[in-house]
Amino acid sequence: PIAKELFGLNDLEEKIRRTYGLRKVIVVPGDCEASPLTKRDLGRAGAKALLSVMSDDDIIAVTGGSTLAEVAEQLNLLTAVPMKNSWFVPARGGLGESMEFQANTIASTMAKRVGAKYRLLHVPDLLSDDAYQSLVQDRNIQEIVQVIRQCRIIVHGIGDAMEMTRRRRLDPVAVQGIQAEGAVAESFGYYFNEQGNVVHQMITLGLRLEDIKRTEIVIGIAGGRSKAKAIHSVLKFGHEDILVIDEVAALEICKEI
Ligand code: F6P
Repeated sequence: PIAKELFGLNDLEEKIRRTYGLRKVIVVPGDCEASPLTKRDLGRAGAKALLSVMSDDDIIAVTGGSTLAEVAEQLNLLTAVPMKNSWFVPARGGLGESMEFQANTIASTMAKRVGAKYRLLHVPDLLSDDAYQSLVQDRNIQEIVQVIRQCRIIVHGIGDAMEMTRRRRLDPVAVQGIQAEGAVAESFGYYFNEQGNVVHQMITLGLRLEDIKRTEIVIGIAGGRSKAKAIHSVLKFGHEDILVIDEVAALEICKEI
């Protein structure tokens, strides 16, 4: 807290919190794109934020990505009681991430770390309309999707839209379309424009926009200067409660506000 005071991080937090009407903003010092140590701090701050709102009877939906993988890594049970009645679930099905960054992997790692339970959603990455139509009919899938949609907490990463189309190797026509729509951010498999409106979505199962909107506690975690626009856009979407970012992203966001 003293270091935060010195670096003026408390002021940054308060400015961002007030501008976007958030419940809590946590800014960690540094630049997570430049330093793995900062990424670790971001993960730890995210883990602390999650533990601070979790109870022993929760459903927590998590997304994938390298930041969330770091949150899972840093999640240690700080309380004496294991959260054995809580469930971790992936927020959405296959979004085209490598194994260690998949939401399923992260949900199971988090659950094991705090002594909670987990359910997985096995949906292929590239889902055609036909495949989607038959998967939604599947009883087992319907059951886990029901659990996901009842989550009380969402913990999610935020990415730059074009960066995420590259990482997911979307075909050039799709990329052009997404770009033409003015997408700047990607989160939960949804692409958002600068005003925070959804302009494109990946075909998969799990949380729908309406589920995200009614979820009690939404925690967004992201860092790096290159994500400032994306973070702003997701904040404009307007359903974030707790935001955990790094200093360079916070400074960049504050230039605009
Ligand atoms: O693909 C899952 C996801 O959470 C995306 O929704 C988000 O854009 C991205 O990962 C963030 O990834 P990273 O933390 O590695 O930048």
